Amino acid sequence: MKLSSLVFSFLCGLLNSPAPVLANDFASFLSANASLAVVVDYEYMATHRQNIMAHFEKILSDIIRENMKIGGINVRYFTWNSVKIKKDFLAAITVTDCEGTWNFYKSTQRSSILLIAITDSDCPRLPVNRALMIPMVSKGDELPQIVLDAKVQRILKWKSVIVLVDQNILENNPMLVKSVVHESTTNHIPPLSLTLYNIDETLRGPQKRMALRQALSQFAPAKHELKRQQFLVISKFHEDIIEIAETLSMFHVNNQWMFFVLEDQRGDFDANTVTINLDEGANIAFALNETVSDCVDTLNCTISEVSMAVVTSLSRMILEEQSIYGKISDEEWESIRFTKQEKQDAMLEYMKEYLKANSKCASCARWRIETAITWGKSQENRKFRTTPTRDAKNRNFEFINIGYWTPLLGFMCHELTFPHIDHHFRNITMDIVTVHNPPWQILTKDSRGVIVEHSGIVMEILKELSRALNFSYYLHEGHSSDTDDTIRQNMNDSDELMGSMTYRIPYRVVELMQSNAYFMGAVAATIDEPSKKHFNYTQPISIQKYTFILRQPDEVSRIYLFTAPFTLETWGCLAGILLFTAPILYFVNRLMPLPELRIHGLSTVKNCFWYIYGALLQQGGMYLPRADSGRLVVGFWWLVVIVLVTTYCGNLVAFLTFPKFQPGVDYLHQLFAHKEIKQYGLRNGTFFEKYVEATTREDFKRFIARSSIYNSVQSENIDAVKHGDRINIDWRINLQLIVQQHFELDKECRFALGKEDFVDEQIGLMVPTGSAYLHLINHHIDRLFRMGFIDRWHKTNLPSMDKCNGKNMQRQIANHKVNMDDMQGCFMVLLFGVILATIVSCFEFWYHRFFVVSRERKRVPFSN
Ligand SMILES: *[C@@H]1O[C@H](CO)[C@@H](O)[C@H](O)[C@H]1NC(C)=O
Ligand SMILES: *[C@@H]1O[C@H](CO)[C@@H](O)[C@H](O)[C@H]1NC(C)=O
Ligand SMILES: *[C@@H]1O[C@H](CO)[C@@H](O)[C@H](O)[C@H]1NC(C)=O
Ligand SMILES: *[C@@H]1O[C@H](CO)[C@@H](O)[C@H](O)[C@H]1NC(C)=O
Ligand SMILES: *[C@@H]1O[C@H](CO)[C@@H](O)[C@H](O)[C@H]1NC(C)=O
Ligand SMILES: *[C@@H]1O[C@H](CO)[C@@H](O)[C@H](O)[C@H]1NC(C)=O
Ligand SMILES: *[C@@H]1O[C@H](CO)[C@@H](O)[C@H](O)[C@H]1NC(C)=O
Repeated sequence: MKLSSLVFSFLCGLLNSPAPVLANDFASFLSANASLAVVVDYEYMATHRQNIMAHFEKILSDIIRENMKIGGINVRYFTWNSVKIKKDFLAAITVTDCEGTWNFYKSTQRSSILLIAITDSDCPRLPVNRALMIPMVSKGDELPQIVLDAKVQRILKWKSVIVLVDQNILENNPMLVKSVVHESTTNHIPPLSLTLYNIDETLRGPQKRMALRQALSQFAPAKHELKRQQFLVISKFHEDIIEIAETLSMFHVNNQWMFFVLEDQRGDFDANTVTINLDEGANIAFALNETVSDCVDTLNCTISEVSMAVVTSLSRMILEEQSIYGKISDEEWESIRFTKQEKQDAMLEYMKEYLKANSKCASCARWRIETAITWGKSQENRKFRTTPTRDAKNRNFEFINIGYWTPLLGFMCHELTFPHIDHHFRNITMDIVTVHNPPWQILTKDSRGVIVEHSGIVMEILKELSRALNFSYYLHEGHSSDTDDTIRQNMNDSDELMGSMTYRIPYRVVELMQSNAYFMGAVAATIDEPSKKHFNYTQPISIQKYTFILRQPDEVSRIYLFTAPFTLETWGCLAGILLFTAPILYFVNRLMPLPELRIHGLSTVKNCFWYIYGALLQQGGMYLPRADSGRLVVGFWWLVVIVLVTTYCGNLVAFLTFPKFQPGVDYLHQLFAHKEIKQYGLRNGTFFEKYVEATTREDFKRFIARSSIYNSVQSENIDAVKHGDRINIDWRINLQLIVQQHFELDKECRFALGKEDFVDEQIGLMVPTGSAYLHLINHHIDRLFRMGFIDRWHKTNLPSMDKCNGKNMQRQIANHKVNMDDMQGCFMVLLFGVILATIVSCFEFWYHRFFVVSRERKRVPFSN
């Protein structure tokens, strides 16, 4: 019979795959009794030398009889652990060892049976939403099970752990280490690396402290590098450990500390007293032993408790079904009644509820978990602070009870063990100092002076930080309102210098930072001598460089444009070969032995010269030499002409399109050779001034020595720069802003910026000295950098360099129209030619008039 049921259930198992049941074919409690399987493993009974099955039958039937008033339960008992349970069973209670329990769980998942498993201790818990597992933890041996549950229930999601444990606890709990390193694929518990340190309890006083110090100092954080570390401390000496770890500054935002407080005398442990010396930002949690000693710790007790839970929760569900069934039609009932899965979920829920309220046996052991809420406590905005500020030194620590552990239900927690690790600042509101300083911080205020909008590079970073670190913020303006405002009022708008500086931080901001009541200063500040300041800088968010602005050098005159393609030597040689080739042609023609081959047109040197010259201009001559010797000369001349003309034309196009400039100042050291630049200007309050004090660069020193420091637009004197009398030094971005504004006004680029960038000025944000969160903020700024956000914000907030730089500053190559500037030289040549021709004509006329005519006149008497 067993075999046939097995085969049947196997077939059912095949047909009924774990996919959700489509039709609700599970009978309601009103039409059929709920069926329960009780499986007590035979071998388990043998090892425990008790007839558990018999006890179970008796206890369960008693309970059903006494408590089941309506409906009923069909119970079937099995003593074979690997029995296959049919899918029409609602639930099964098993009593077997850990391995058997898990095997049974896996096999019943198919036929979807709710499993209530009573098993040995140190067993990884079955998934808490699919089954109820009750490990029989004996008194005082609960630690391995707690650790195991913490891992299975993801209370401690650690990948590595440093365990500090007392020697005798380790000896009394042989399973402890195994639980710590437990890994499983079904429960998705990744492997964990363990560093185990056992504390020798026999050591006393200073010796013990020294040993602890030695052990802990291996894990102490290196400077500026806070690694993530997790500590699990199961020791009587937790106070010593806290104290020593504190001196090694091992309580920081990246570390997690879990302490098991073992003291038997409960109640007199106060987490606040123990942590009195700790700084804000620590992640520390305590597990406190709340075990009540007056409870029954037997299997009988557990069995009856579980049976009671099953029966009461079933009764409750039957009652609920009945109350609804009477009121609605059958069709409606069919559509709304629970499926098997829903029934099981409800039953599990009810059983947990019952056990939470009534459990008296297995709940012997009970551990409460307390965790510290510390992050941002001291810098939280007063308005939003919930607890009144305490006078104690550790007013920044608040311990909250996040839940408890019992063997019956495992961990019941309503909050994360280390809430700050995942939720960072837990959405509290922080006070943040800022000042208006575009483009870093741009504050828009309404008529009452309340900041309504904020933008700019620093503010974008702040917004992103607040998102990443889960806090809201409240901006405070850091002006010492009297002095700054009067200065502002006295200055006319047109007087104000554009562009920005970060070297001078308003005194009030520094003051507020020092008071340590503010989370951070969202103020772009030049990083300068960080160790001497009363606050700390974050890592740089920007690097600004200095350069200089001056008048753009003039273009080289284009009147000699047509001569530009060749150097003077080339022109000379050209004239030389012209004068040289003409006689050669003449002689070659002249010395021709055959007179009939001689060309009449080349019979004079002058004619030859004009012939060669014409060939150069590609006009050719009317005649060609008839002899090969002459042809060779002319032919080679034409080759020369092709090369000459091609290079000339090509170069001429290039000179036409790319204008040449007179030499300007590209590098600062060239400046002192330009005597026409008389004034040197430098903006007031730059880091450059400070930098030069320590530099070895002579040109900087010379510049500073001669420079006038300007504060306003008048003394900036940008017009003098435009006229070429002055040079100003400032941040490149500020100078670009000027160039751009003037370009928009004049539609012309009149300024040039230096090719050289000097003095890298690093700009960071400000946090109070010793802020626990500096590392965290730096880490996130670094992430923003790597994701390219900060670059992007720079691009959107700083003046673009497009308008007047590089290629655009030069004439546009594509559509450069040849203008009079370019052609003037050409016309001059024409004019020169015309004038020359006129002169030559006059000369010829005069020659004809005076020589030829007079000669003829002399001849006339002869002929007469
Ligand atoms: C458990 O209960 C059964 C039946 O009630 C009883 O016979 C048995 O002695 C009990 N065992 C223990 C260890 O109490
Ligand atoms: C349901 O349970 C009751 C009480 O346990 C029992 O009398 C009845 O015979 C059962 N019905 C079926 C169909 O098993
Ligand atoms: C917890 O407290 C109970 C009762 O005081 C004690 O019996 C038990 O040993 C304690 N547990 C541990 C792990 O010390
Ligand atoms: C921010 O903190 C709140 C309060 O703890 C929490 O509910 C929320 O999930 C957190 N948000 C993020 C993104 O961590
Ligand atoms: C965070 O706090 C702000 C203001 O205190 C509130 O508007 C917001 O809804 C909170 N967000 C979360 C996730 O709790
Ligand atoms: C501001 O401008 C007004 C006129 O526009 C002028 O009279 C006054 O002197 C200026 N103030 C300063 C401080 O330059
Ligand atoms: C913070 O500033 C203090 C003094 O101003 C300095 O000693 C300390 O090194 C700084 N900390 C960091 C992390 O830069």
